[in-house]
Amino acid sequence: MKRPRPNIARTETADTYDLAEPRLIGPPLPGKVIVAETAEGLIDGLSAEMVAQAQACVRQFGDFHLALSGGSTPQPLYERLMYDPNCRSLPWARTHLWFVDERSVPFDDERSNYRMIKETIVDHSGIPREQVHPIFTDSDSADIDYENQLREVMQRREQGQDRLDFVLLGMGDDGHTASLFPFSEALRETQRLVCCIAAQGADPPQRVTMTFPLINAARMIAVLVTGSAKAPTIQRVAAGEESFQELPIKGVRPVAGELRWYLDAEAASLEG
Ligand code: 6PG
Repeated sequence: MKRPRPNIARTETADTYDLAEPRLIGPPLPGKVIVAETAEGLIDGLSAEMVAQAQACVRQFGDFHLALSGGSTPQPLYERLMYDPNCRSLPWARTHLWFVDERSVPFDDERSNYRMIKETIVDHSGIPREQVHPIFTDSDSADIDYENQLREVMQRREQGQDRLDFVLLGMGDDGHTASLFPFSEALRETQRLVCCIAAQGADPPQRVTMTFPLINAARMIAVLVTGSAKAPTIQRVAAGEESFQELPIKGVRPVAGELRWYLDAEAASLEG
């Protein structure tokens, strides 16, 4: 099958994609920085990477553990995964779909991450329902239940490989990622894989989120950031002066995996 030829550029030597000209140099962030002129171009590269990772994991382990974020930024990516013929080879039948975080609202609420991902992916991908793992926020033990479920499903893999394969993160204007907000307790978590939190000012404040120990154990972490509104926060991360308490996205530091930033030109401050 013909491999997709994404219209993207990256800050490092190409080893995965063909490069488009001119090469865009992104801000100095920890990990690899991939910049495209447009969000569409960025999604070309990110979707191709996700498909390649999924296929490699299924070849190696027999399954693929994918954790997706909510928010508005990734929706075009999720739609692309469904309609682009280049993405058809993503092995949904062997994929386990996890949720990076969930807002404490009913599943049919427009703020529900499950609702958005169900409507864009679950309903159209053919993924077996038992491999879709929503977070049931209405239970008092939502975090413990989700952590137990993660451990139970992951332990079917051999030890050392029992981790998420691909975690897609977004970033808020305040530097939060997942539902890990500035100066929150959950940022300091070192044992628990999932936490319930109450974030002042967030809508809704009550959420359940994966923590850094789980996220940072992943094989691949992709942070997708688009639009000029996020550019000042990207600049703050690049400046390197603030702690992860102030800018939670700085707590993303894979222990034995890879971190890639996917930025469009606006988020990378290359436009305007
Ligand atoms: C959530 C997300 C969250 C999101 C950022 C960015 O459920 O709120 O997982 O971490 O990625 O808030 O959101 P936008 O893409 O809407 O800017």
